Amino acid sequence: MERELALELVRVTELAALASAPWMGRGDKINADGAATSAMRAMFDSVSIRGTVVIGEGEMDEAPMLYIGEQVGSMNGPEVDVAVDPLEGTEIVAKGLNNAMSVLAVANRGNLLHAPDMYMEKLAVGPELVGKLKLTEPMELTLEKAAETLNKNVAELTVMILDRIRHESLIKTLRKVGVRIKFLSDGDVAGAMAPAFPEAGIDLYVGSGGAPEGVLAAAALKCLGGEIQGRLMPSDANEYARCLQMGIEDPYKVLSMEDMVGTDDVIFAATGVTPGEFLGGVRYLPDDRAETHSIVMRAKTKTIRFITSRHYLPNKAILHRTL
Ligand code: FBP
Repeated sequence: MERELALELVRVTELAALASAPWMGRGDKINADGAATSAMRAMFDSVSIRGTVVIGEGEMDEAPMLYIGEQVGSMNGPEVDVAVDPLEGTEIVAKGLNNAMSVLAVANRGNLLHAPDMYMEKLAVGPELVGKLKLTEPMELTLEKAAETLNKNVAELTVMILDRIRHESLIKTLRKVGVRIKFLSDGDVAGAMAPAFPEAGIDLYVGSGGAPEGVLAAAALKCLGGEIQGRLMPSDANEYARCLQMGIEDPYKVLSMEDMVGTDDVIFAATGVTPGEFLGGVRYLPDDRAETHSIVMRAKTKTIRFITSRHYLPNKAILHRTL
């Protein structure tokens, strides 16, 4: 993939974020998601790729656009796998909370795991802990090892986790060991990426979240030099069969970074919709302008670009179109 593609792709997440931001705090996650999805789909037409959506808004019969298998791009350029989440954190936007982003990853064809829509157990870390921890080890041992490697006391560790009833016993363990916990209401792509940003003050991301979000986080962490390990959690025979159908031979296998993103030729882009650990949200400014904060990165070069853009929206064009 040409490096110019990174900048073309960030325009896609910028537009999706701008389209969903007017829905912030309106209690309507369906329309917030719909606005982001339509904008992202339209913008893809101008991107120089021959893309196939492998992680998207659902199956062809479940989603009108950006469904799994849909072809996107200008159809000039490299053949690529496309993973998208036009609005990661629909509920966040509906409630006006933090950490919603518009996200995508693009990799050479055949290199992104076709993650089924189910939960995945996750353990994500920043560069200093890469290769040091195992998802299969007890949490107490994981925290001890993390503290030792980071040269901290266990009590000085900060762990991020989705605030969910299903995490009750894991949270009890974290409390017993005595770490600090930062709860996420939603948005675990940002959660899993957070340990790779020292300024976020998060040492580990743990717990279960969406499997597609796990692959998006793996693409981001590949560029950031961090790591995520995952394990699918099929909850019944149907979900188990779905894994097999999507080409995952052993659904209970611990998935490494390589299993989720099998190449260094991957680009990740995200634009904040609401403020988060490492990105600002969409801000409206005087004179019909709106500011976006994005990150775009390539694993090949490991360059991390933070892009602040001031868009001109005469007559609040995006606002009127989406509301
Ligand atoms: P949506 O944007 O699709 O609403 O997903 C938000 C999210 O918080 C993801 O970041 C996370 O992986 C998943 O939902 C967790 O699922 P659940 O809310 O069922 O715990």
